[in-house]
Amino acid sequence: MVLVSKPFCVMEDSPFIYGKTVSLHAFTNRESEADKLKNNLLRGINTIMMSPRRWGKSSLVEKVIHDINRKNKQTKTIIIDLFSVGTEEEFLERFAREVIKASSSKWQEWMNSGKEFFKNLVPRLSIGIEPNNDFSLSFDWKELDKYTDEVLNLPEIIAQKKDVRFVICLDEFQNLASFTGYLNLEKKMRACWQRQRRVTYCLYGSKRHLLADIFNNPSKAFYRFGDMMLLPKIETKKWVTFISKSFATSGKLIDKADAEVIPRLMKNHSWYVQQLAHYTWNLTKKKAGKPEIEAALNELLQANTPFYQKEIESISHTQLNLLKAVVRGESRFTSANVMQNYHLGTPRNVSKNKAILIQNDLIDEVNGLFEFLDPAFELWFRKQFFNQLYKI
Ligand SMILES: Nc1ncnc2c1ncn2[C@@H]1O[C@H](COP(=O)(O)OP(=O)(O)O)[C@@H](O)[C@H]1O
Ligand SMILES: [Mg+2]
Repeated sequence: MVLVSKPFCVMEDSPFIYGKTVSLHAFTNRESEADKLKNNLLRGINTIMMSPRRWGKSSLVEKVIHDINRKNKQTKTIIIDLFSVGTEEEFLERFAREVIKASSSKWQEWMNSGKEFFKNLVPRLSIGIEPNNDFSLSFDWKELDKYTDEVLNLPEIIAQKKDVRFVICLDEFQNLASFTGYLNLEKKMRACWQRQRRVTYCLYGSKRHLLADIFNNPSKAFYRFGDMMLLPKIETKKWVTFISKSFATSGKLIDKADAEVIPRLMKNHSWYVQQLAHYTWNLTKKKAGKPEIEAALNELLQANTPFYQKEIESISHTQLNLLKAVVRGESRFTSANVMQNYHLGTPRNVSKNKAILIQNDLIDEVNGLFEFLDPAFELWFRKQFFNQLYKI
């Protein structure tokens, strides 16, 4: 998907939240996944986690890290979102900064870390107006390139000296793969990180195809680096309980049968279930029923329309036609009939387009069948191109 951001709205008193991670409020279920991830991270088992975007990876990691922070004072934790990091240099500086910052709560100690923990590198450290938060670190690029290992090994060095452990979580990890010089960096990361005894890594992201290539490819450095978790969707039953309870605690009502319509329409997709539940809640005076859910769905699709339109504009005609075939339940795209009916182009076109739509997370292949990954986009698409109305 090319979408970068989504409309986001969090009403002060709404029990439903979307558009930002939900680790404390509005967080539901995920007990077994949280247990597994926490146990892995506390026992030194590196973990790789993938799922399509907006199913709940960042929220889950935040929740688990929050739990670790509360109970395990000797474990220092770090979460870095690589979505906003653009170069290898920026990544390494950010990595070093976060490790130093997590290692102590005293800014005086941060300032001494250059001499204490590095051999060859000399970090430029400076403190801003607010010493406890505002702290920057940079290296000379040539030096950094030469002594990259010193940064990658920094958490282990500090952990040994201070008798602590580190848990380092790198969100949207596949972003690193787009940097120039990545292959080299990949080898160094793997070589350093696999030797570390006091540092555990959680590497996760939404681009499953890129991540699979990094971690499941026997010829790549990160092959079998850690335990692989494929984060599933949250089950309907859990969503229904969550929605009913959230309505009740905020002074409104919804019947179980109606609450069930929300995850069904949104195919249990975490973000959209929250968004639809929020709109429904917002339109409800006392008790929500089908009319409120229907109006909420319209509102949701309207709010997202600019993003869906942009999506359509960014793909080619034959790709659009392939989406139409998918939505109509076709799966044998190269059969003469289907190619002709939907104007899919040549068989080569079809396989290329299929690969592109899968790469871009627009569609997914499950046991030889194809489906849209974005449930609301699918509803919008059906209405837009086939005038199909949603059944509530
Ligand atoms: N455990 C959860 N319980 C309730 N809602 C969730 C949960 N996890 C995610 N969500 C919803 O999904 C949205 C996207 O979650 P996020 O953690 O950012 O996903 P990802 O990192 O996989 O893209 C959140 O803003 C929230 O609305
Ligand atoms: Mg995320």
